[in-house]
Amino acid sequence: MQAKWYNFIVDMKTEIIEIDKNNIDKTGICRAADIIRDGGLVAFPTETVYGLGANALSPQASRKIYEAKGRPSDNPLILHIASMDDMQIYAGQIPDKAYKLARRHWPGAITFVLKKTNIVPYETTGGLDTVAIRMPSHNIARELIERSGVPIAAPSANLSGKPSPTKASHVFCDMNGRIDMIIDGGMVPVGLESTIVDFTCDVPTILRSGAITKAMIENVIGDVLVDRAIISKPSSDIKPKAPGMKYRHYAPRAELTVVEGDEGFVISKINELSMADRRGGRKVGIIASEENHGLYTHGEVLIIGSRRDEETIALNLFDILRRFDDMGVDVIYSESFHGEGLYEAIMNRLVKAAGYKVINQ
Ligand code: TXA
Ligand code: MG
Repeated sequence: MQAKWYNFIVDMKTEIIEIDKNNIDKTGICRAADIIRDGGLVAFPTETVYGLGANALSPQASRKIYEAKGRPSDNPLILHIASMDDMQIYAGQIPDKAYKLARRHWPGAITFVLKKTNIVPYETTGGLDTVAIRMPSHNIARELIERSGVPIAAPSANLSGKPSPTKASHVFCDMNGRIDMIIDGGMVPVGLESTIVDFTCDVPTILRSGAITKAMIENVIGDVLVDRAIISKPSSDIKPKAPGMKYRHYAPRAELTVVEGDEGFVISKINELSMADRRGGRKVGIIASEENHGLYTHGEVLIIGSRRDEETIALNLFDILRRFDDMGVDVIYSESFHGEGLYEAIMNRLVKAAGYKVINQ
């Protein structure tokens, strides 16, 4: 099992410090920045999800991230910067469209893939000649990057394959004993990882959907493509361009199934399946909308939000998957949440978490 493989690092003392994002304690941030500069690992909040940060210019520090997460070494890290000017230090041949999009949406929940410069080590880019760069808007993230004086490489601060952390308690659960420090800055505001746009191809291409939607991007730079692997199950002819998108992701321990169709079908199907599971002695969890939650007859029901409120659904999704794990359920059924924009990112994460197990009407 994976856990055995990295048992050797599970004896580190992980310090937890609380920082108020609206009134940042400079002493705490400076201590965290010292750890980053010394080559250590600090988990910190961003507006999307918690990140697991290390000095992006240090091969040794980047390697520690892979070890702590149990992450495959070909899965590149995002380099976080605090100022737009820094983009050209770490990336070359930057197209005008990337600058235009950065001016509109940075700081924020969008990452650009660009040609890397020589100072970015291959340990940070998973061996690629390209680098993913993001300037986050969260006060704590920005202050930490500024005080560290180096760009911060940060994947989501979960064990590889688990749901991304939206609260410090999620990070603690996965990373206690593996990293130097966790900055608890409360719940993140968005809850899904950043949108990734690849600028190294002829037409900019969205590799991962997020809160900055295709329409918002096209508004600024015109037509963009969407990597087919976002919508379809990867196969021999559909290979995701973001290496991380090919791995099982966001997955709870329980077996998750998404049920699609009109509301009547979804509710009766979930009731039928959960009744059979209960009879078979399995503990059932149901991810339900505020509108329908009272209609389920079996199992533990958690409300993810109103079907009309995609921001709340996005914020609660990973937390609910982890709560069901804590409750020890064996199977989870989820309603589906279709729509444009953020709904697409929600369904992308939900269907991936289900390992593409979807029941259609
Ligand atoms: O919101 C976010 O992006 C969060 C916060 C912490 O910033 N970070 C995050 O990192 O989600 P991570 O490592 O969990 O996901 C990064 C994704 C992976 O799928 C990875 O393969 C892809 O970005 N990626 C990174 N560098 C890339 C590159 N050079 N080319 C293509 N994909 C890349
Ligand atoms: Mg991740």
